[in-house]
Amino acid sequence: MYREIHSDHLDLKSGPPTEEPARQQYFTERLREAVEERSRALGRPLTACIQTFGCQMNAKDSEKLLGILLQAGFTASQDEASDFVLYNTCTVRDNANQRVYGRLGYLNRLKQKNPEMTIALCGCMMQEPSVVEKIKKSYRFVDLVFGTHNIFRLAELLFRRYTEDQMVVDIWEGTDQIVENLPSKRKYPFKSGVNIMYGCNNFCSYCIVPYVRGRERSREPEDILSEIRALTADGVVEVMLLGQNVNSYGKTLNSPMTFAGLLEQAAKIPGLERIRFMTSHPKDLSDELIGVMRDCPKICRHLHLPLQSGSSRILKKMNRVYDKEQYLALAEKIKREIPDLSLTTDLIVGFPGETEEDFEETLDVVRRVRYDSAFTFIYSKRTGTPAAAMEDQVPEEIVKPRFDRLLKEVQRISSEVCRKDVGRTMTALIEGMDTHDGRLVTGRLSNNIMVHVPGDASDLGRLIPVVLTESKGFYYMGKRLP
Ligand code: SAH
Ligand code: SF4
Ligand code: F3S
Repeated sequence: MYREIHSDHLDLKSGPPTEEPARQQYFTERLREAVEERSRALGRPLTACIQTFGCQMNAKDSEKLLGILLQAGFTASQDEASDFVLYNTCTVRDNANQRVYGRLGYLNRLKQKNPEMTIALCGCMMQEPSVVEKIKKSYRFVDLVFGTHNIFRLAELLFRRYTEDQMVVDIWEGTDQIVENLPSKRKYPFKSGVNIMYGCNNFCSYCIVPYVRGRERSREPEDILSEIRALTADGVVEVMLLGQNVNSYGKTLNSPMTFAGLLEQAAKIPGLERIRFMTSHPKDLSDELIGVMRDCPKICRHLHLPLQSGSSRILKKMNRVYDKEQYLALAEKIKREIPDLSLTTDLIVGFPGETEEDFEETLDVVRRVRYDSAFTFIYSKRTGTPAAAMEDQVPEEIVKPRFDRLLKEVQRISSEVCRKDVGRTMTALIEGMDTHDGRLVTGRLSNNIMVHVPGDASDLGRLIPVVLTESKGFYYMGKRLP
């Protein structure tokens, strides 16, 4: 299920090529020899386990990393007691970091039992110099550390670790390189994320992503479209186009293209039934995009439109470049044009200087827009961001009750909104077996809401019409059409 790299034409004796992806093809082959040798000595296959923290970008990166490992002869495992364990980390909020440090202690104990074990860390957290210093000093049992810009080099780096007897650390500060055509192993046979751009140029004042993911780079439309064509030929019916701010897609290309234009092209691909995307920044959302969404039934009826705060004063300090009124007007326009669209959002509570009045403004927007669902976060101070240096950080005893009030309100509204389609028949993509009841399967509606219906494993990956019979707050129960 992963794309093969043809190595017949590679000359393994003449040393590594300098060009990519040829260089990684060379190292994948060398790594494969090393894995085979180790596996022969042990009398069993070498296992590899990747644990992913964070967002869809990281999930997609992990599929690429797993693709490389399978190509190099590892057997995939879910168990951290594996011969190669890789943590793909997130640093968007401090609790993501703490989870990684907590789990590393456990990995160290596993490694003491299995001397063959190799431990690697990659992803956003590793782009922070202070983190890498801490790993080098206090987590000496880690074998390999790399960042977000060089994941395509996994084979080369792991091969180096196998041949050098010391921790290998390779962090790039940034890159303008986009390496195409590397192997990838999808988690789901029937749906897939597709990167359309990397990095972020927005510098919202609380956010560390632009520092750890680098400057915004769009992929060429033809590369994206041919990846989607190859995916559909391999059984994929739904893609999610991924970028930190998809609405600014294409602006830096030699022949500029809009995100709406890209969606239109993607929608023409035969065999592709559904298109989703993440994430839309309100400041760049165009009328052209609303029109394309409205007119193209393949584009899912879901828009994730992060608000962050409902207070114009706080939005300004956040550097979000829209105010409360503009956001409300945009949300209203979208709902008017596409009435069956589900709107979801991200909200931050306790940004520096947030007063009770500011917080009430957030509640006000939540009540007026009536989101289908919302992710609520407590502001987390990220070193190096402008907000971290702001005075008047809000104390925890004030933030926590606000967070609880917001969550309650979001959930109350969401359970009311997620009732409106009871009785209707909608198409669901069946994604998995129900974890509680073996007679049910779980499907996703175009509007991103889940539905549980009777079914079995043969339904996985199929788009089927279901009658929504009951609302359970944030998901539906359904039945099949006779
Ligand atoms: N690019 C996306 C968001 C990526 S991060 C966008 O702009 O919408 C996902 C979410 O994490 C953000 O929307 C924000 O709500 C939250 N987040 C980011 N930095 C944060 C911080 N320092 N503290 C709390 N939440 C944060
Ligand atoms: Fe972070 Fe803002 Fe970029 Fe989103 S748009 S990743 S919140 S800086
Ligand atoms: Fe986390 Fe990096 Fe995504 S910081 S949210 S994994 S871009």
